[in-house]
Amino acid sequence: MKPVKVGICGLGTVGGGTFNVLKRNAEEIARRAGRGIEVAQIAARRPNPKCETGATPITADIFDVANNPEIDVVIELIGGYTLAHELVLKAIENGKHVVTANKALIAVHGNEIFAKAREKGVIVAFEAAVAGGIPVIKAIREGLAGNRINWLAGIINGTGNFILTEMREKGRAFEDVLKEAQALGYAEADPTFDVEGIDAAHKLTILASIAFGIPLQFDKAYTEGISKLTSADVNYAEALGYRIKHLGVARRTEAGIELRVHPTLIPADRLIANVNGVMNAVMVNGDASGSTLYYGAGAGMDATASAVVADLVDVVRALTSDPTNRVPHLAFQPDALSDHPILPIAESESAYYLRIHAKDHPGVLAQVASILSERGINIESIMQKEAEEQDGLVPMILVTHRVIESRIDNAIAALEGLADVVGKVVRIRVEQLV
Ligand code: HSE
Repeated sequence: MKPVKVGICGLGTVGGGTFNVLKRNAEEIARRAGRGIEVAQIAARRPNPKCETGATPITADIFDVANNPEIDVVIELIGGYTLAHELVLKAIENGKHVVTANKALIAVHGNEIFAKAREKGVIVAFEAAVAGGIPVIKAIREGLAGNRINWLAGIINGTGNFILTEMREKGRAFEDVLKEAQALGYAEADPTFDVEGIDAAHKLTILASIAFGIPLQFDKAYTEGISKLTSADVNYAEALGYRIKHLGVARRTEAGIELRVHPTLIPADRLIANVNGVMNAVMVNGDASGSTLYYGAGAGMDATASAVVADLVDVVRALTSDPTNRVPHLAFQPDALSDHPILPIAESESAYYLRIHAKDHPGVLAQVASILSERGINIESIMQKEAEEQDGLVPMILVTHRVIESRIDNAIAALEGLADVVGKVVRIRVEQLV
């Protein structure tokens, strides 16, 4: 059988890796796919020194690939929302299947892209968009298809995890570690996407849709970054038996779906609490499977290429199948998506770590405790440290039981209003992940 012809748009880290893996593993890949896969064209503005493209035709214009009648599958690896959006729509219009690693594109424009793809009977595959080399989309969409998924929680930004790991293990400052992550090539072009949780929110939006069968709703995800975390909180969390991780959490409740990215205390003995450096991990809890954990490299040349090529193999295998019998883009049949709402953060439920700085007077702890108890907030543990030398203030660290966020908001406002409490109360959410 003739090989399937693909065009790679973008020859950066992931594009170069994809070309290399397709070349290096060509024979094994063909044995799996049932046909050879030939890179018939590449669109790139400059060569990639890590990628020997030989005689493969190269163009500077990505639309040459989308309009090339020889090409069956367009691989979009240019990133960003604008040009990538146009490219993918053009490829679909021309009846080509698409493989993309672009989480921002899928999270923001996925509903439109999938609708267009259905009209044309083509596949848009996006395993590489979430957690690089970990096949977590396939695991949720297919491997867990028998489950009602209750929640998922993931470390889905390698840069953020690297920063938190270095802060905890080596006591390094945030800025210093960020520079190193950029030099290692993991960070997004705009590093605020990593540290403010936007990249993780893109990925979480995608995971939540395929877990719960809801349309993509990136605009409703709550996002809080790690740039304000201090080593004091990292150390206090440690003393209480927790680690701070930048988690994406999606949880199904009666009232709606929680969709939130924020720093989170998790018990230090959970496997996911020990995922360090640039590694990613996603926990998924299904009613039948219980909790499952997927771990691996969340970024990088070969790891992300592994996911792109796996999608390509899926596309090649499905080329002759009836489009209505393919795995749906968002795991659930498009006419069976649910309108269960995404909850605003004030209506989500969590336990909380609170750090309060108080003057060292008798009765302060009693006032703090009564503010919490009046609002039905149960204290799980409390730790008070000796007064700090510079300001004579006493750091008071509390962990609460689970409660609706609006109650904690209200308690924090009351705590900050106390004459003996100085400055802002630090609040970090806590998840047990069982
Ligand atoms: N900037 C991302 C990360 C790259 O650090 O995980 C992979 O999506």
